[in-house]
Parts: sequence; structure tokens; C-alpha cells
Amino acid sequence: MKYALVLADLHKTYPGGVKALRGLSMTIKEGEIYGLIGPNGAGKSTTLKITMGLLKPDKGGVLIYGKSVMKNRVEALRLASYVPENPVVFRNLTVKEFLRFITGLRNIKWEEIIDYAEHLIEGFNLSEKENTMLSQLSRGMLQKVLVTAAFLVRPKLMVMDEPMAGMDPEAQHFFKHEVKKLVSSGATALISSHLLDMVERFCTRVGIINKGRLVAEGTVDKIKKMASEESSLEEVFLRIVKG
Ligand SMILES: Nc1ncnc2c1ncn2[C@@H]1O[C@H](COP(=O)(O)OP(=O)(O)O)[C@@H](O)[C@H]1O
Ligand SMILES: [Mg+2]
Repeated sequence: MKYALVLADLHKTYPGGVKALRGLSMTIKEGEIYGLIGPNGAGKSTTLKITMGLLKPDKGGVLIYGKSVMKNRVEALRLASYVPENPVVFRNLTVKEFLRFITGLRNIKWEEIIDYAEHLIEGFNLSEKENTMLSQLSRGMLQKVLVTAAFLVRPKLMVMDEPMAGMDPEAQHFFKHEVKKLVSSGATALISSHLLDMVERFCTRVGIINKGRLVAEGTVDKIKKMASEESSLEEVFLRIVKG
């Protein structure tokens, strides 16, 4: 069994003294759709930024398919794509220019992926926006463009920070369908969310993070069973997070 991602004992204190991560460890196997859930400020975005080498942990390490993000950065990150929490992108490019630019950075020929690109653009209802500048898109539309780029680079590991933020239900449905498709062709996904109901029916495994530590992990069924009586994931989540 291959490990797509190993996070080992991550610690991170921000300047100013906020301890965002306090010894977070988790592993994700190839083929999983792993949902990292937790309340605001739990440390989800910090975890994903460290995973993508955008932030240095004070302690601990990250392996993507066995390659160290700290020591073998370029090789490790080449296998991954990322949807950031705050999209700071090339706002003066059009949607199409942006997608060509991002795939070009990975040496992917546009002709090879044009069908896939068109499928994603249509599925996300972006056809009319192809020649619109990113700066003129709504938040939800921009989110769909960023997700499209993350699919298009054909990653082995997708790392997505609240990817469905601002997406309409139709787009959310298409998004989940496309993630499942990519994963069934050999990729792996790590998705952070505070939306429990999406995780409940979509992720193959869930980790609950609170105050910089993983406090529960397993299939949705297993986590629900941790609570004695029948409850929704939401009820279990609230109980775990409140201690
Ligand atoms: N750049 C930063 N500087 C200082 N504190 C930060 C910074 N980024 C995040 N934090 C703090 O670290 C904690 C974890 O934040 P974050 O990882 O963004 O959580 P989440 O994504 O789960 O909401 C929070 O208390 C947050 O306020
Ligand atoms: Mg966040």
C-alpha cells in the first residue's frame, strides 16, 4: 500500500505566539478522499500550507509519495496540486489564459488536455467566462477556475482548502463527481472543510482537527460509532470539539 501523504509531528507557532499546530500527524493512502474537518482556527489551512511547502513547520516533516517536501521540494510538489484558502492569483489574466499558464508551468501541452479542459469549463458553467479576466469573476466563479486548474495538472495528490466555498449546489455536485473520477484513476485527495454534510457523504475517511491536534480519525461510520447513541456527524463533531 502506497502512502500518498505522510504528515509527521507537525508543530507551528506563528509570530505573535499563536500555536496553530501542536504535534499533528496523519497518513493518507493512495486512493483516499480524506476530509480534514474542524472549527475555524483549528489549524486546517496551516496544515495544508505546510503540506504544500508554503509555510515551514517549527518541527516535523511532510512526505508526498515518499518524497520530502522539506528536502526534495521540487520533486515532491510536482506530484501535487493546490487550491488555496485565499486565492491570490494573476488577476489580469483571462480564465483561459490562466489555465494555459498554470498547465504550461507543469510542461503540459494544452492540446493534450483541451478536451478535459472543455469538459471542466462546461461542467462548472464557465463557458461564457472563458475570456473574462479573473478580477471580474465572483468569488464562487474564481473558486471554480482554481479548482479547474487543480484538476488540469493531473496531480497524484490534490490538496484543497475549502474548495466548495462559494460554489452553487450544481457546481458542488460536479466537483464531487470529478474528484471521484480522478481518484478512481489513481489520484488521492485531501480536502479541508467546515461543511460536515459534504464530508459525510463524500469522503472515504475523515480526520477531526481541533486546536492544532488530530482528535479523531476514521471512516464516517467509525467516528459516529464513537458516540454511544445514534447521531449525525455534526453531533459527534460538536461533542468531540467541545471535549
Ligand atoms: N499568518 C498568521 N499569523 C498569525 N496567526 C495565524 C496566521 N495564520 C493563521 N493564524 C492562526 O493560527 C490558527 C490556525 O489557523 P488556520 O490554520 O487558518 O485554521 P483553520 O484553517 O482551521 O480555520 C488560528 O488561531 C489563526 O488565527
Ligand atoms: Mg482555513
